[in-house]
Order: sequence, then C-alpha cells, then structure tokens
Amino acid sequence: MAELNLVLLGPPGSGKGTQGERLQEDLELPYWATGDILRAAVREGTELGRAAKEYMDSGDLVPDEVIVGMIGERVASEEAADGFILDGFPRTIPQADALAAKLTELGRELTAVLLIDVDDAEVERRLGGRRTCAEQGHVFHLEFNPPQVDGVCDVDGSELIVRDDDKPDVIRHRLAQYHAKTAPLIEYYDGQGMLRRIDGAAPPGAVAEAIRRTLATLRLEADEAI
Ligand code: AP5
Repeated sequence: MAELNLVLLGPPGSGKGTQGERLQEDLELPYWATGDILRAAVREGTELGRAAKEYMDSGDLVPDEVIVGMIGERVASEEAADGFILDGFPRTIPQADALAAKLTELGRELTAVLLIDVDDAEVERRLGGRRTCAEQGHVFHLEFNPPQVDGVCDVDGSELIVRDDDKPDVIRHRLAQYHAKTAPLIEYYDGQGMLRRIDGAAPPGAVAEAIRRTLATLRLEADEAI
C-alpha cells in the first residue's frame, strides 16, 4: 500500500486518543487530533484558540470554517507524504466533504475510516475518570489506565488535569452533538465502502490488536488489487 490515510471516528471518550497515540508509534505517521490542536491554541491564547474556547467549554462543535483550513494545510504538507492519522476530524458532513475535496485536489484518497464504537453509558464512565496531561494531552484513566504516580504523566512528567469539558453536564451535551452531527458520518463512509468497525468496549490492548488486524487486512486487499 503506497500510503495510509486514516480517520479515527467515534463518540467522545471512545478511545480515539488512546489508540491514536499507539498507532502513531506503530505506523510512524503524523497524528493530528483536532481537539489537541485546539486545546494547545487555547493555552497559547492564539486567534484560533480565542475563536474556539467558548464552543469547546460548552461541548459544542467549533464552526466548520475554523477547522477545515487547519486540517487541509496539514494534509497537504510534506510531513503527510506517506499518510496521516486524523482524530476528531471530520466531525460533520461538510467537514467530510471538505476533506474529500482537498484529497482529490492532491490526487489522493482516504484508505479507511476506523469507527471505534462504545455506548453512551461507557462514554460517561470513561470521561468521568479521565485524567489528561496538561502539556501534551497524553491520556490516562483513574481505573482503566492509571498513571504510575498519582497525578503525574508517565510520558513527560507533567501534571494530570481534568479537562473542562469532562464535567457531567458537558459530557451529555457532547454526546448529543455527536449523535446529531457526527454519527451521520457512519452511513456516509459506510456507503463509500470505507468504514471499518472496531469494538471500542474491549480493553485498550485488545482494541489496539483489533485495529492492527484491520490494517493488515487492508494491506492484503490492496496487494490483491494490484
Ligand atoms: P476532542 O478532544 O476531539 O474530544 P472527543 O471527540 O470528545 O474525544 P475525547 O478526546 O473526549 O475522547 P477520545 O475518544 O480521544 O478518548 P480517550 O482516548 O481520551 O474534541 C474536544 C472539543 O474540540 C469538541 O467538543 C469540539 O468543541 C472541538 N472540536 C474538535 N474537533 C472538532 C471538529 N472537527 N469540528 C468541530 N469542533 C471540534 O479515552 C477516554 C478515557 O477512557 C481515557 O481516560 C482513557 O484512558 C480511557 N480509555 C480509552 N480506551 C479505553 C478502553 N478500551 N477501556 C477502558 N478505558 C479506556
């Protein structure tokens, strides 16, 4: 397979970030999580951060026009020549259309969309116990993936914090936004034969293994098509 252009799709807290970190190491491809990019912009007080903060804190989606250019530039960059992993983008049909248009302009296409699926009750359990590294967004869970030292990131030693949008009422609003605006992408990509479903309810290692198997199958299918 010449290049691997992947999208991680799924509800908030389904494990996209957890798996994205592992995939980035396995595949040595650039990994762009729109939530992480936006949170860094908020911390740095940039124009993008100022535009995004209010939406993010209340659990609403940031307007499409703020996001689309930001990802388009990255996908077109030299860094993405062998492929990329997108997490949290696209999140609406217009964003998916914009990504498809950008890739067509570049003479490329998506390889697959990996849907990491869990139900709403599991989302609430996971986000309630999530702790996030203040510097680079590495993710832990008090029960399912605890750090070695309480309150400290295993990877870079930063403080672990509770995200502003991990409060119970904001979690419920994010879930409602997901079902209304993002879940329609499941049918959108399924209709294009691009969707691969991964059971996100399994433990993190088992989810990672299921993703590896899916990618191996994709490689086989691509080889057979040559
Ligand atoms: P974003 O940061 O993308 O939030 P999200 O999609 O809601 O996803 P999360 O980061 O909450 O969860 P995740 O799936 O990565 O799960 P994680 O691995 O952390 O977006 C935040 C905001 O930015 C949005 O609300 C919006 O305002 C804005 N935004 C971003 N992109 C946008 C876009 N394209 N358009 C418009 N607005 C946009 O795991 C969760 C927890 O569970 C962790 O504690 C983890 O340790 C644990 N865990 C993970 N896997 C497992 C497992 N298998 N078993 C048990 N526990 C597990």
